[in-house]
Amino acid sequence: MIINNNYLDEIEKILENKNELEDFKRYCTLPLKKSIKINLHKINLDKFRKLISNWGWKIIDPGFIEKGNIENDSFYIDREEIDFALGKSFLHMSGIFYIQEIAAGMPARFLDIKEGDKILDISSAPGGKSTQIGDYLLSYKNRPGIVVANDVNGKRLQTTAHNLNRMGIYNSMLTKLNGFVFGKNLGEVFDHVLVDAPCSGEGTGFKSDFSLKIWKRQEINKICGTQFQLLVSAIKSCKQGGTIVYSTCTMNPYENEENVSKILDFFKGAIELENVDIKNKSIGITEIEIDNETKQILSEQDAEKLARFWPHKQKTGGFFIAKFKKVKTLQEKYPNKENKIAPKNPFKIDTSKSLQKQVSNFIQEQYGIKVDKSKYLFFATSKKIYLTSPEFLEFKDILEFEKVGVPIMKFGGEHKFIPLHSFGTTIGGETNKKYINLNQDDMQKYSNLEDIKIENLDGKYKDREYVVIKFEGIGMGVGKIIDGKIKNKFIKA
Ligand SMILES: C[S@@+](CC[C@H](N)C(=O)[O-])C[C@H]1O[C@@H](n2cnc3c(N)ncnc32)[C@H](O)[C@@H]1O
Repeated sequence: MIINNNYLDEIEKILENKNELEDFKRYCTLPLKKSIKINLHKINLDKFRKLISNWGWKIIDPGFIEKGNIENDSFYIDREEIDFALGKSFLHMSGIFYIQEIAAGMPARFLDIKEGDKILDISSAPGGKSTQIGDYLLSYKNRPGIVVANDVNGKRLQTTAHNLNRMGIYNSMLTKLNGFVFGKNLGEVFDHVLVDAPCSGEGTGFKSDFSLKIWKRQEINKICGTQFQLLVSAIKSCKQGGTIVYSTCTMNPYENEENVSKILDFFKGAIELENVDIKNKSIGITEIEIDNETKQILSEQDAEKLARFWPHKQKTGGFFIAKFKKVKTLQEKYPNKENKIAPKNPFKIDTSKSLQKQVSNFIQEQYGIKVDKSKYLFFATSKKIYLTSPEFLEFKDILEFEKVGVPIMKFGGEHKFIPLHSFGTTIGGETNKKYINLNQDDMQKYSNLEDIKIENLDGKYKDREYVVIKFEGIGMGVGKIIDGKIKNKFIKA
């Protein structure tokens, strides 16, 4: 792999010891160990560990997290079988875990998420951290809050949509906007905001040598401008008392500490830097060298609050995290103008009381689920019923959206509604009738889109009836009973 000399010169300047450079270069080219993030609202760590240990899989704690209010959920994974792709495992396909780089699993943990929070993920695609935020919100059990997953890139946003569906993150909405616009159009509406910024991507250089090969200062300056604007918008749109987390998968100081320094100056008195409490982290740098002159950008005290992940030290991808608290409102200084991002031609959706009643009755009668209005909101388009959280109503008329919640049913059939795969992965776990628990082998077949023959099924269910598929009591999907078999309905959502 080729690593550009301009880049290495920059890195050499900020390494603690100059003789680290060879080590740094070597680690930049090594593949990273596979790692996952467990979907905590579906499975806890003990249960997950027990389950996979039966199959000769092991999870290894990277040791970055002190026991806190969020259970540790990001681990390296070791498996005996190497010919079976991790992404094809039924646990992945039905949203029990997400494949995510270890350091990338850290920023969302520092958002200080509370029950019912409304959180903006300003540049979200492909959605790893949005699914994580949604998961933490759902882990509270009562009010699910909402994560607004935004990205300017429509194609990448489709992957976010797919990932939110797969992970059962129904407390979500998707917007396709330039992230710069939130602050000036909405004002202070979010409890917390994540800026997992577009960056030069050196930290993931191992994926392709492109970012390390063509590293140019002018290009970096452009990216820094975008990152700064996203931070400005994030901070303006966050409520007083809220948290803004900034992260990049890059190691040069310009996209990281220098941006932190600039934003602290720009919003002096309104934001404060907070500690990113990670064990064995590297701290931020305090000085940069410009035209042979050394410039102090942060105090020692502030640099210690930041978290840097170096490939050769933490043995992760290169990564950077800063956490800010908004201590003062900015509403008077920057009053929001006319809201230009409100829905212009809202596509027809029905969130009426009568719809809530009809869907709730169907779910209760057919599947025995008692619908809790503080957790679930249904809405209908002309073809499908979606499940989302009641917090959506606060954004419905002020934010142009692409998609809300996850599709759980379509119109049709004997009872007017036909359950879709995501019915199983969202509320399916709560069914106390019309469900079938599958064992591990059948679950894998189900994820491979095979139909499942079940012994003694005859007579238990009506032909052509839809059942929820469960594994260890967790909702995994939906199937249709036909001729004594479960006809596969996987991802036919
Ligand atoms: C590092 S990626 C985000 C990764 C994501 N948070 C995850 O965990 O899966 C940065 C994203 O920023 C998006 N982006 C770039 N410029 C943007 C802008 N002005 N507004 C919103 N999103 C932007 C890119 O399309 C890209 O998807």
